[in-house]
Parts: sequence; C-alpha cells; structure tokens
Amino acid sequence: MFSSTTVLALIGSATATILWDGRLNNETSSAFLDDWSFSNTVGQYQYYIHGDGPVTDYVKLATAYKNPADSGSKQGIQVTIDNSSVWNSDNMLRTELIPQTSAPINKGKVFYHFSVQHTTTHPPSAYEEHQVCFFESHFTELKYGLIDGEQGTLDRALRWDVNSETQFNVTFKAGIWHNIAYAIDFDVGSVGFYHSTGGNDLKLTVPPVSAAVFYWPYRYRS
Ligand SMILES: *[C@@H]1O[C@H](CO)[C@@H](O)[C@H](O)[C@H]1NC(C)=O
Ligand SMILES: *[C@@H]1O[C@H](CO)[C@@H](O)[C@H](O)[C@H]1NC(C)=O
Ligand SMILES: *[C@@H]1O[C@H](CO)[C@@H](O)[C@H](O)[C@H]1NC(C)=O
Repeated sequence: MFSSTTVLALIGSATATILWDGRLNNETSSAFLDDWSFSNTVGQYQYYIHGDGPVTDYVKLATAYKNPADSGSKQGIQVTIDNSSVWNSDNMLRTELIPQTSAPINKGKVFYHFSVQHTTTHPPSAYEEHQVCFFESHFTELKYGLIDGEQGTLDRALRWDVNSETQFNVTFKAGIWHNIAYAIDFDVGSVGFYHSTGGNDLKLTVPPVSAAVFYWPYRYRS
C-alpha cells in the first residue's frame, strides 16, 4: 500500500490559471471513479488501469491522506497496489489515475503540481521499482525502489528521472511529505523540477533539462 496525494492542479505560468484540478474537493469517496469509462468520461480522472477488486481496494480519499500544510485540498488520495493489481495480464502491478480533461495540459509551459508521502503502514517495497507520478512516455517521472537493472537488492531513494536518467534523489522516509512540480515546456522540450518537504515553499531544485516531452496521445482524449 502506498499512500500519496496525486496531482493537485495544473497551472499555466503566464496567468497562473488552473487548467485542470485533480484535488477532488467536491468528492466524498472514490466511488465516482466507477462511473468513468471511455464512453462516459465523467469526473476528473480516467480509471481503467487497475486490478479486479472494488475501487476502494485501490483508491481511497481521506483528510488524513493530504499534506496537512496544504490548505487548498479538502483531502488526499491514497493509492494502493497489491497482488490483485493486475491489468491486462501484465507482470507489473498497477493502479493508475489519469487526468480526464480536454484542457491544454500538453501545450506551452505548464506546471504539474502534486505531493506524495508514504507511512510506516504498508510502505512501498524498496526491493522493486515503482513508477510514481509519470507520463506514459516516461520523459519525466518519480521512481522509488530498486530500479530494474540496478545493482544491489534494495534502494530507498525517491528519484526524479528524465528520460530514465536520475536528476535528483532523496531517501524516501516514512511520514515526510514531498511537494513537487514538474515545470514542463512543451514548446521548448524541457522540464524543470521544483521540490520541498512538509510546509516549505517549493524551490527550483533542478533547472530545466532537455526532454522528449510527449503526452501519450492515447491518454489524451479531447
Ligand atoms: C466543484 O463544485 C463547485 C461548486 O459547484 C464548482 O464551481 C467547481 O467547478 C467544482 N470543481 C470541480 C473540479 O469539479
Ligand atoms: C504477492 O506475490 C508475490 C510473488 O508471487 C509473493 O512473493 C508475495 O508473498 C505475495 N504477497 C501477498 C501478500 O500475498
Ligand atoms: C543521489 O543524490 C546524491 C546527492 O544527493 C548523488 O551523490 C547521487 O549520485 C545521486 N544518485 C543518483 C542515482 O542519481
């Protein structure tokens, strides 16, 4: 089980407009995700990559799951994977929430904001690679655990990778909130990394690096 809040909001830089809001401030449970389908694109998230169990096995909402320093969110989202989290007979275990929007979140300069944390209860395994907060094309992503092909048996680093190269890492300790923004420039082809912990202000931690920015079109339905 991996406790995290996912994407908070997508903000366009010039006017700081919220392009898409994934905070779920209007929802009282994750049950609404069951209403989503490709022919009924309701709510903030596409929910189709997950195991066979009920939605509450994999996604839960609660005030306890948000960063207490985040006054703009009513609650956070706990995302869980377990051995039932098999999708399309794939070897990986998956629970995915994908923005459902026709807003231009793949154009110009946009900031993808989110905060993540795990606790000592059912923490993510350090023995396996976890892909956390990623684009399907993997041009920017958080990863945790022993990366596929890495030497050793375990790795407790939370890392930010661009095109599979680590740009930043920090030990992913239980009970510490990591606040993050990907500063993506879809025109230039770059992504920068803002980071802070707890209630601290975000800081530009890695200036923009060149990236093969690409919003997987299958997932972008307008
Ligand atoms: C939440 O509800 C308010 C009031 O009805 C509405 O203005 C707002 O657009 C809703 N937000 C989302 C993200 O659906
Ligand atoms: C999940 O599956 C793995 C691999 O088959 C196994 O080692 C592990 O014990 C299982 N975990 C649970 C909780 O069943
Ligand atoms: C993790 O960060 C440290 C500095 O904090 C650096 O020395 C190390 O090379 C980094 N590891 C990876 C895999 O990037």
